Amino acid sequence: MHMKLIRHLSLLLAVMLSPQQPVAAAERTPPQQPYQEWQAENFAIEKPLGGLVGDAERGRAIAGDQHRGNCLACHELPIPEEKFHGDLGPPLAGIGSRQSAGMIRLHVVDQSRFNPETVMPGFYRPPHQLNRVAPELRGTTWLTAQEIEDLVAWLVTLK
Ligand code: HEC
Repeated sequence: MHMKLIRHLSLLLAVMLSPQQPVAAAERTPPQQPYQEWQAENFAIEKPLGGLVGDAERGRAIAGDQHRGNCLACHELPIPEEKFHGDLGPPLAGIGSRQSAGMIRLHVVDQSRFNPETVMPGFYRPPHQLNRVAPELRGTTWLTAQEIEDLVAWLVTLK
């Protein structure tokens, strides 16, 4: 079989097998940082998590990293050096002109606020709501507050 097709199929399978979890979640070390409370209003989280400042360069790396954001498994992104881009979710090019930073932040933190049936993992949902994860991952979030802010810093630049 063609390599690209094999990679496509295995990523798709991994997504289907764990709809609430990023692909290969078990292989990553859970972030060990205190959880930062957040509040959503009008489908947006206006305040950066923990008052942190994001770094767009790091955000781009996280989006393409299979063991962290793995956004590429489901979204087409302006990361041309990566060959596989999934299409379960909408392409994210131009998201920075369509949506505010606050709204983008809520999408990444907890997409279920927009769509309770979503297949997109809640990357910074309150830890007690994660009840389908392995015991060693309980009480943690998929990404750290800093990683969320790095992603948001990059996504807002996609104009
Ligand atoms: C398992 C698949 C999957 C993964 C992984 C995933 N998403 Fe999504 N995402 C979706 C789907 C599907 C939607 C469309 C809305 C829905 O069905 O919830 C979406 C919607 C979005 C939206 C809103 C787009 C719009 O036009 O309103 C943003 C922003 C987003 N995702 C960012 C990300 C980022 C950043 C990552 C990586 C940290 C990521 N997603 C990882 C599936 C995924």
